[in-house]
Amino acid sequence: MSEELKVYAPPADFAAAAHVNGMAAYEALCKEAETDYEGYWGRLAKELITWKTPFTKVLNEAEAPFFKWFEDGTLNVSYNCLDRNIERGLGDKTAIIFEADGGEVTKVSYSELLAKTCQIANGLRSLGIKKGDRVMIYIAMSVDGVAAMQACARIGATHSVVFGGFSAQSLRDRIEDTGAKAIITADCQVRGGKQLPLKAIVDEALGLGGCDSIQKVLVVKRGDAKNAMTAGRDVWMDDLVSGLPTTCEPEWVEAEHPLFLLYTSGSTGKPKGVQHSTGGYLLHAALTTKWTFDLKADDVFWCTADIGWVTGHTYITYGPLALGGTEIVFEGVPTYPDAGRFWKMIQDHKVSIFYTAPTAIRSLIKAAEANDAVHPKSYDLSSLRLLGSVGEPINPAAWEWYHQHVGGGRCPIVDTFWQTETGGHMITPLPGATPLVPGSCTLPFPGIQFAVVDEVGNDLPWGKGGILVCKKPWPSMIRTIWGDPERFKKSYYPEDFKGKYYLAGDGAIRDEKTGYFTITGRIDDVLNVSGHRMGTMEIESALVSCTELVAEAAVVGRPDDTTGEAICAFVVLKRPRPTGDEAKAIAKQLRDHVGKEIGPIAKPKDIRFGDNLPKTRSGKIMRRLLRSLAKGEAITQDTSTLENPAILDQLGENN
Ligand code: WTA
Repeated sequence: MSEELKVYAPPADFAAAAHVNGMAAYEALCKEAETDYEGYWGRLAKELITWKTPFTKVLNEAEAPFFKWFEDGTLNVSYNCLDRNIERGLGDKTAIIFEADGGEVTKVSYSELLAKTCQIANGLRSLGIKKGDRVMIYIAMSVDGVAAMQACARIGATHSVVFGGFSAQSLRDRIEDTGAKAIITADCQVRGGKQLPLKAIVDEALGLGGCDSIQKVLVVKRGDAKNAMTAGRDVWMDDLVSGLPTTCEPEWVEAEHPLFLLYTSGSTGKPKGVQHSTGGYLLHAALTTKWTFDLKADDVFWCTADIGWVTGHTYITYGPLALGGTEIVFEGVPTYPDAGRFWKMIQDHKVSIFYTAPTAIRSLIKAAEANDAVHPKSYDLSSLRLLGSVGEPINPAAWEWYHQHVGGGRCPIVDTFWQTETGGHMITPLPGATPLVPGSCTLPFPGIQFAVVDEVGNDLPWGKGGILVCKKPWPSMIRTIWGDPERFKKSYYPEDFKGKYYLAGDGAIRDEKTGYFTITGRIDDVLNVSGHRMGTMEIESALVSCTELVAEAAVVGRPDDTTGEAICAFVVLKRPRPTGDEAKAIAKQLRDHVGKEIGPIAKPKDIRFGDNLPKTRSGKIMRRLLRSLAKGEAITQDTSTLENPAILDQLGENN
């Protein structure tokens, strides 16, 4: 296989100027980590972070898998991202170039971002919010959103950002789980020329019950949505902060202090609150921004992710700012006013590093192929020097297009594999070092000990597919699942590997010759739709919560050309199986119901109705058969254990 691989070596001029130049430099870093693991991370933590109290201990494994990093050191993340840059003379440097949905551009310098952050931090303090309290953030892409996160970090409050596309029910569940004291939101968000409500959804969430912990709702004014303000509870952010000082003493916290909780889907139950630390997280956010993105003083960096996802946390709010970079924050969507928006913005702002998701690339390819005006060739993209991809596997065809048409054949592409739980890049090329192979995320980041093993944790030879694990703890790893340490252990450090290896939840294979990793997809019941993680059980619960209609539901994924995977639901109703227009109407009703329970991103693309689901004699749903049906494949598997084989024909019909 290796012979057929197309390999792209790093361009010589790129490598020469890169933070990590050449494979020998990469290997030397790996070697350093191998020889003295703690020494390696300790050295980098001193180089990249300014500590209030220096740490004396790097790693504490006494309570494994609850690892502690730099535990006796104290620091403040917002100090590291803002004040420190100003002290280094970057006060007037642009930190954020904000482009609104409608195209208005606002530039915010480091000094201005610090002032804003401090005012919000003082506002939060004036409401009695302090170290250890949780604060929800439910806001669209905005300078206020980034500043709100930084403000929480400044006073030691743990933030939990909920993506603006999640429903009131999802928001309510997260509020209840975190026990947050306050929510920061906006009256609305603007996307694709439309104002969509945010504050109204917060009101609805709070009305669903279980949110008694919430004392204050802070509302940023973005549009002209008319909102009722509940006296004593709701405050306009402007009213709260106007007149407050633009300086604010940071709360120096221990390295292990929880910087944030971010909810993500697992294979069972409700989304879990992934808890991240302060010191270890910041180290990896800064280090990966430096080495993977090769960020330099004069770069304009653009990560298109939303701050509601981990990618937006690490590569918008924290990593680039920790290094004193200039970055784009974009409010809108890639297809408004047309599908050339990304290319136009790269041209207008002279973006040099661009990081996006394969789904976005695939949908923009379709648009570009249909219309030259939105093709990258119609724009001047010569400012670009590096491209990145994240969230799902990038298929080689999309990779080649991205490389040729966006990167002009000259920009390396870093295909970065990582997860909400890992805090930052885990397997990724370093652009000045690693020869690239489309479709492979190549090799582990220096110091990260990923391996492919069998079910009991034995190493597999290269060329054999297996389970992706990490053999050693790393600084930015998940610390626990908020409020559920047992679930943390069971999910990530299962007994199958004697509790010693971190289980990523993905399958992987290493190339026989190069050892390069290719991720083969989730090995659990987690789907990846447009780079968004969705648990099949979550969607099933949402469907059956439509109690007047649904008796039973099973959800599986099927491959989709644009979104990577698509959600396919098999549903048994409490009434006779519908067909034709009636089936369409009920399917729509169920889609809307899922949208309300979780959010529009969880709406199944296909819904099929049956009198029953394929089950074994002991009543277990045979999901592998459903996966084949969803793909439209003929059933070739063994169906001898199936109780009701006739059901397969019925479910095979698309209604
Ligand atoms: C998938 C997003 C292949 C994978 C940062 C992982 C990828 C899940 C890649 C995490 C990649 C992410 N190649 N698959 N480069 N990046 N994934 O938590 O299945 O939203 O487990 O974090 O996305 O998704 P999450």
